[in-house]
Amino acid sequence: MSKLVPAVRSGDVLMPALGFGTWQLESGGAQPLVEQALEVGYRHIDTAQAYRNERDVGAAIAASGIKRDDIFLTTKVWIDQFADGDLQRSAEKSLERLGVAHVDLLLLHWPNPATPLAQTMAALNDVKDRGLARAIGLSNFPSAVMAQAQSLSKAQIATNQVEYHPYLSQKTLIAAAHAAGTSITAWSPLAQGKVADDPVLIAIGQAHGKTPGQVTLRWLIQQGVIAIPRTKTPARIAENFDVLDFALSDDEMAAVFALARPDGRMGNWLDAAYSWDVE
Ligand SMILES: NC(=O)c1ccc[n+]([C@@H]2O[C@H](COP(=O)([O-])OP(=O)(O)OC[C@H]3O[C@@H](n4cnc5c(N)ncnc54)[C@H](OP(=O)(O)O)[C@@H]3O)[C@@H](O)[C@H]2O)c1
Repeated sequence: MSKLVPAVRSGDVLMPALGFGTWQLESGGAQPLVEQALEVGYRHIDTAQAYRNERDVGAAIAASGIKRDDIFLTTKVWIDQFADGDLQRSAEKSLERLGVAHVDLLLLHWPNPATPLAQTMAALNDVKDRGLARAIGLSNFPSAVMAQAQSLSKAQIATNQVEYHPYLSQKTLIAAAHAAGTSITAWSPLAQGKVADDPVLIAIGQAHGKTPGQVTLRWLIQQGVIAIPRTKTPARIAENFDVLDFALSDDEMAAVFALARPDGRMGNWLDAAYSWDVE
């Protein structure tokens, strides 16, 4: 029986606030890790066409014996598949690799000015209308282009998946997303492991008998953000899920928010046509 993970309402769907990320879990190696994550209790799995591990993720879901409807599965369309027709075909290929009839959420991986956004949003809506995705969303969209995408979309943008961790403020984007009914999903929620050495997070963790990683994930979930940590280390799969039995005080939340710094961004592949929100 899995622990009760809070759900975040995202457009028409409820997303488990804690998911398992699979970036850099290579083809062949991802399957046992995803199987273990499902065994531990994760019910939200994040993959992407670009990760080249959709077959592994699908095989793990099939092997788990867990009902398809009990798993929230996200994949992302790569930026060279944004034209009408290409996007729908690439979504169908993702479903084939995943071995499922639909994904729960289909995201545009990064904004791409090479294809008109109106065309891409119409194609993404078409995928949803055909029942291949229960919900649609974005990834790495600054607030201006996120608003533009919503204005061009019949369906509610369920989530915007962006880099977010204690070292990067996303105040502006989170406020804009939440005002528009869009949830925020945090990628690199552990700052790619950097949180483990942080004295502030270590001290807060000691007060709760938790690790700095657990404090960080709790801080994200407690502000209504979805977190999708990734690990190749079996013990950490369980550690990162064990964040549901404690709460941070207002002062502790504020102390984590205070760790944000101007140079905190770690992954920046944003096209020069766009710019990040200024915090
Ligand atoms: N949409 C996008 O553009 C985008 C971009 C990046 C990531 N993502 C998604 O977000 C997921 C998570 O992001 P991420 O993989 O970049 O980084 P992350 O989850 O912040 O960190 C992963 C790193 O932290 C280490 N780690 C994991 N748990 C830990 C713990 N409890 N204590 C200390 N270190 C720990 C891992 O090491 P070990 O593996 O050695 O344990 C790994 O090196 C990805 O897997 C992917 O699904 C999306």
